[in-house]
Amino acid sequence: MASHLLFLVLISICSIALASDPSPLQDFCVADPNGPVQVNGFACKDPKLAQATDFFFSGLHLPGNTSNPVGSKVTPVNVAQIPGLNTLGISMARIDFAPWGVNPPHTHPRATEILTVVEGSLEVGFVTSNPDNRLITKLLQKGDVFVFPVNLVHFQRNAGYGNAVAIAALSSQNPGVITISNAVFGSNPAIANDLLAKSFQTDTKTIDWIQSKF
Ligand SMILES: *[C@@H]1O[C@H](CO)[C@@H](O)[C@H](O)[C@H]1NC(C)=O
Repeated sequence: MASHLLFLVLISICSIALASDPSPLQDFCVADPNGPVQVNGFACKDPKLAQATDFFFSGLHLPGNTSNPVGSKVTPVNVAQIPGLNTLGISMARIDFAPWGVNPPHTHPRATEILTVVEGSLEVGFVTSNPDNRLITKLLQKGDVFVFPVNLVHFQRNAGYGNAVAIAALSSQNPGVITISNAVFGSNPAIANDLLAKSFQTDTKTIDWIQSKF
């Protein structure tokens, strides 16, 4: 009985460990972007050469430029900006929204996201996987916090006439982003328009028109 219990505990620990970025086996592993070794992340630079600047980023007080078709701008702060985040499984971002600006439906293949509204109000949501595809959505005000579970398609929209700002934390040093519209209609080379026409139950002219936007 006790061994069964131990087995179950081990299984649950294993599945949790396998579902996230690996835990570091040293204090830190400052990314060496020029390192020749290909690992799951970046190679470490010599820890004796680590500096405060390896763990530092400046500029998140600056609004992103939202003058674009969707009216939002993400300023990422991950291992690409802070090499000291390598192997630590955490990162963040600032998201700026023009009035009614949208952060279009997207997923983070490697991270759960927890988002805090610091200015304005946001309509947010995510969709559960097949077959339910249930939309879970909420209107957030300044100070509200919302979670987007790993991998699920989610979005935000500024629900107001002023600018909105959010700060997001993500459970990976390199969360990745797949914007659904870009991936499906803006791939390079393009996915065949008749394939997309059948997938979206429409005609190839409509697909050509959407593809021309991406
Ligand atoms: C914001 O982006 C737009 C479009 O790319 C550009 O025309 C404009 O100069 C930018 N504004 C600032 C303040 O950088």
